[in-house]
Amino acid sequence: MRLNKYIAQAGVASRRKADELVANGNVKINGQTVREMGVDVGEEDQVEVNGRPIKAAKKFVTIMLNKPKGFITSMADEKGRPMVTDLLSDIEERLFPVGRLDFNTSGLLLMTNDGDLAQRLMHPQHKVYKTYRARVSGHLSSEKVAKLAKGIDIGGFVTSPARVSVIKQGDRSAIVEIQIFEGRNRQVRKMFAAVGNKVMELERIAIGDLRMGHLKEGHYRKLTPKEVEYLKNS
Ligand code: URA
Repeated sequence: MRLNKYIAQAGVASRRKADELVANGNVKINGQTVREMGVDVGEEDQVEVNGRPIKAAKKFVTIMLNKPKGFITSMADEKGRPMVTDLLSDIEERLFPVGRLDFNTSGLLLMTNDGDLAQRLMHPQHKVYKTYRARVSGHLSSEKVAKLAKGIDIGGFVTSPARVSVIKQGDRSAIVEIQIFEGRNRQVRKMFAAVGNKVMELERIAIGDLRMGHLKEGHYRKLTPKEVEYLKNS
């Protein structure tokens, strides 16, 4: 396997960043610094990045999890809060989350040991739409919907066009579906806050065409080879 792909699959950096790491002399194979691009790495080779050994997984596993509220999407937490990895009881591989969902957001979270796939999906350039269903306070007028759809300033950053549809307007709150392809920190919450509506519940229901369907909260399933192929090509 090409060195930059190996580094990406180990979850260290994108392929482009991996090339930079190599060019800057941060990468060693079997104790020797390599600076040439396009070197091949074999099964037995020991690769180090910044002095730390790395390993690309041999067998890739990608799952979808219906993350409940009250779980964090990192691999460790100083505060001892529940982590999404605690929910993966019968998976031996070390899977890491593809992007983040807030502690209080529920819904579709992909987890994988294929760092290359994760990097690709997280990059806004790939324009993979994520669909969220939100319950927001108050009334969501068509003017507000238009502002959200066009792009809105969420504090020094103007969001890209989004697709927004009000599913139900109640007396005190509205159910809205919103599709965005960026993943700024707390982006959906900030977008609604920018038009004066507070997000009360937030759930991710799809990533691209991949929908969570009837997967129960706290449950997960492996993706089919077809679904993995779709993500690789999206
Ligand atoms: N936007 C948010 O505000 N929170 C999430 O968890 C995901 C998207």
